Amino acid sequence: MDRDNHFDNLPPIETERLLLRTLRMSDVEDIFEYASDPEVTKYTLWHTHNSRTDSRRFISWLKDNFACWGLVHKADQKIIGTCFLHSFNCQERQAEIAFNLSRKYWGQGYTTEAAREVISLGFKKWRLKRIEGTCMIPNIASARVLEKTGMAYEGRIRKYDHDMKLYAILRHEV
Ligand SMILES: CC(C)(COP(=O)(O)OP(=O)(O)OC[C@H]1O[C@@H](n2cnc3c(N)ncnc32)[C@H](O)[C@@H]1OP(=O)(O)O)[C@@H](O)C(=O)NCCC(=O)NCCS
Repeated sequence: MDRDNHFDNLPPIETERLLLRTLRMSDVEDIFEYASDPEVTKYTLWHTHNSRTDSRRFISWLKDNFACWGLVHKADQKIIGTCFLHSFNCQERQAEIAFNLSRKYWGQGYTTEAAREVISLGFKKWRLKRIEGTCMIPNIASARVLEKTGMAYEGRIRKYDHDMKLYAILRHEV
């Protein structure tokens, strides 16, 4: 599992309402529109975007470091969020999933729709054995998405600043 080679040519994924594809610099307006919303970044490890420069840096960071798909809303023809695999552990064949979505589209099942496909592809493309998901304790929506993808709650990870909930799914559980 050579991480660098595999992140360049991610296959697009089509779901009922979304097209998942690699991000482009031209997505900056769509990304800025939702990433500048402090409600979206309330429980994320990245900060609210104050400028399009922040959004451009964010796109580069995601593309350079993670297996990241932009979530294109097919009907509205715009990027409404991202879903990505990170923290690849080649020896243990595991990775972690993360996602974020424009507030306008919350509560309509979009993230679950995308995350299910990313998990499925993660098991197939990188032959992963285990995919984890973590979220801050008060982030109920994120925990619920992880549950709806079939992940099992495995416990609470203690941290200095904020404890996290840990979820995971194994390859044979998909
Ligand atoms: C977390 C996030 C990606 C969820 O996206 P989404 O597309 O709204 O998720 P879904 O619609 O697929 O599922 C959300 C679930 O949470 C539930 N939910 C949301 N807020 C809730 C609350 N306060 N109490 C109880 N349930 C809640 C919804 O009812 C839904 O569950 P259901 O289908 O059983 O009704 C989105 O809220 C987001 O972008 N948040 C900000 C970024 C973030 O926190 N990312 C994750 C970092 S770990």
